[in-house]
Amino acid sequence: MSEGNGNTPGGRATIRISGLTKSFGDQTVVNIDELVLGAKPVEGLIGPNGAGKTTLMRLIMRSTKADTGTVTLEDGSSEVVLSKLPPHRIASLGVVKTNQVTQDFAGLTIWDSLLLAVAQRHDERPHRIYRERHVRESHGEEIQSYLDLFEFSEPEGFAHSTGEKKLLDVIRCLLLKPKILLLDEPTAGLPDDVTEQVIAMLRTKVAEGMSVVIVEHDLDVIWGFSDVVHFMAEGDVILEGDPAYIRAHSTVVEKYLGSGHV
Ligand SMILES: Nc1ncnc2c1ncn2[C@@H]1O[C@H](COP(=O)(O)OP(=O)(O)OP(=O)(O)O)[C@@H](O)[C@H]1O
Ligand SMILES: [Mg+2]
Repeated sequence: MSEGNGNTPGGRATIRISGLTKSFGDQTVVNIDELVLGAKPVEGLIGPNGAGKTTLMRLIMRSTKADTGTVTLEDGSSEVVLSKLPPHRIASLGVVKTNQVTQDFAGLTIWDSLLLAVAQRHDERPHRIYRERHVRESHGEEIQSYLDLFEFSEPEGFAHSTGEKKLLDVIRCLLLKPKILLLDEPTAGLPDDVTEQVIAMLRTKVAEGMSVVIVEHDLDVIWGFSDVVHFMAEGDVILEGDPAYIRAHSTVVEKYLGSGHV
């Protein structure tokens, strides 16, 4: 994959979803007729617990297989049907997702898990990046530039807390240089000052051309960061609009925010 995000000057890469459905047993958890994600630099995806937000993101990445429907990546004049591809191909096309539930990175140190992401981006075999010092060193500066932004308790060792693992996951995804980054509750469990640092880091990447779709229950993050907000309930996006519109909408208040919200 080339350096940079590769977005065309004419517009951002977008994800078009058509007729997407997913059921678990007799419960339909995603049922979306038409939806476009990524047209705006930062898009919030909110909704009550169980609305289907994580499942929708997993269907896009094909870490969960859809029952019906098509997901297409539209990038300039090119269109790729993601729903026919294996998950690793989707990441290499520039659609990348963080995880709501933290991963333990299979026992890898912070550095090794980030080197693995760089290897994946360059299509290098992982053993090369670990064994060959010059390969490690050529990527070291980029990794260190991310690590310098945060205070990991043991930067040369392992990520310990849930917060550190979440951070590591976000950095790992950024090292893949996504065109569209899907973030599933990236700041859940992080202290307020670190949340602000994460959002600042994401804003820098957005200014460079990356698009963000962010699921978050911390609505201060959503209202302050998003250009547009999609409101999801019972498996479908039922409202879209700018943050002020969504925040004040009676359906959102009734189904999610509660009447006591300000
Ligand atoms: N693998 C699975 N097997 C069975 N049911 C599942 C599975 N994954 C999700 N579900 C169910 O699908 C529904 C939607 O779940 P999902 O995790 O997508 O919601 P969400 O909007 O991300 O919620 P939250 O805000 O709590 O993270 C829930 O009722 C959930 O229990
Ligand atoms: Mg979820």
